[in-house]
Amino acid sequence: MFPLQRGRRLRTNESIRSLVRETSLSPSDFMFPMFIAEGENVEVEIGSMPGIFRRSIDLTVKEVQEIYALGIRAINIYVKVSENLKDNTGKEAWNKDGLMQNAIRAIKTACPEMIVMPDVALDPYSIYGHDGIIANGDVENDSTNTALVKMAVSHAEAGADFVAPSDMMDGRVLRLREGLDAAGYPNVGIMSYSAKYASAFYGPFRDALDSAPRESDVVIPMDKKTYQMDYANRIEAIKEALWDVEEGADMVMVKPGIAYLDIVREVKNAVNVPVTVYHVSGEYAMIKAAAERGWLDHDKIMMEQLMCIKRAGASLISTYFAKEAAILLSK
Ligand code: PBG
Repeated sequence: MFPLQRGRRLRTNESIRSLVRETSLSPSDFMFPMFIAEGENVEVEIGSMPGIFRRSIDLTVKEVQEIYALGIRAINIYVKVSENLKDNTGKEAWNKDGLMQNAIRAIKTACPEMIVMPDVALDPYSIYGHDGIIANGDVENDSTNTALVKMAVSHAEAGADFVAPSDMMDGRVLRLREGLDAAGYPNVGIMSYSAKYASAFYGPFRDALDSAPRESDVVIPMDKKTYQMDYANRIEAIKEALWDVEEGADMVMVKPGIAYLDIVREVKNAVNVPVTVYHVSGEYAMIKAAAERGWLDHDKIMMEQLMCIKRAGASLISTYFAKEAAILLSK
């Protein structure tokens, strides 16, 4: 008898394939990252991210209502503030009437069921384009944590459901947990960017917020390699994720996505909290660029990548494709 096994029996047609399919996608698997701009009625498409916009709060609120209706239940928010609000302390980050705080309030008022996860890191507010406070030629860990706590508490005050620290400082999850509890926000969760690699895939995001490390009066690193992880490393990712869970993270994240699915699976197996994967700006840009040239089938590649991220172990996928994928899933 040859062949002894016939795997093709389970692939004969779409009906049988649907019966044995191990992974599925639904709009509630996605988080949509959104960029907020100052002003009113502002909508600027990001050059390296076709289809993704920086929008003022009024237009952001409309978009949030639209994606809620499509079944998306969580958003990450990032702000672009004007240059005159940037300094080395990042103090605009905890301004009660800052762009982020106003955005959180407006979104939660218009769409209370949407889970809002503001980004906690100083880069949009830093004159140096770094995720923390610069001292002695590098980002200073502990003073940055103090700033991040003020920032996170101001997000909680504005109504954030979760805070999402993306800065990679050591000990920040514990500091944030203590700070939120002390301020009376024990139910505000922490989604920690635990295994965040120093990646060139973040390029388009830095275009969107104008937040890349930049030349200045003092000597500073022109990359983020002293805090974000070396992409040659694997064990470090597990270590960072376990620390964050111990420090009180409700969810951990691996970032970027597609090139890091080995890490996603290992982190998934190591922790007992949901794992989020950030399918980042550069991954989005690659698909858009190839599809524009007719070199790849946009929708098929999008769904394949999202499904593979889920299969690797993601409970949630933060992706710029959230809206398009949700529309496609509803058809
Ligand atoms: C900054 C931050 C970055 C991203 C999310 N938060 C960029 C960076 O670390 O330089 C990247 C997201 C993306 O590329 O889509 N704290």
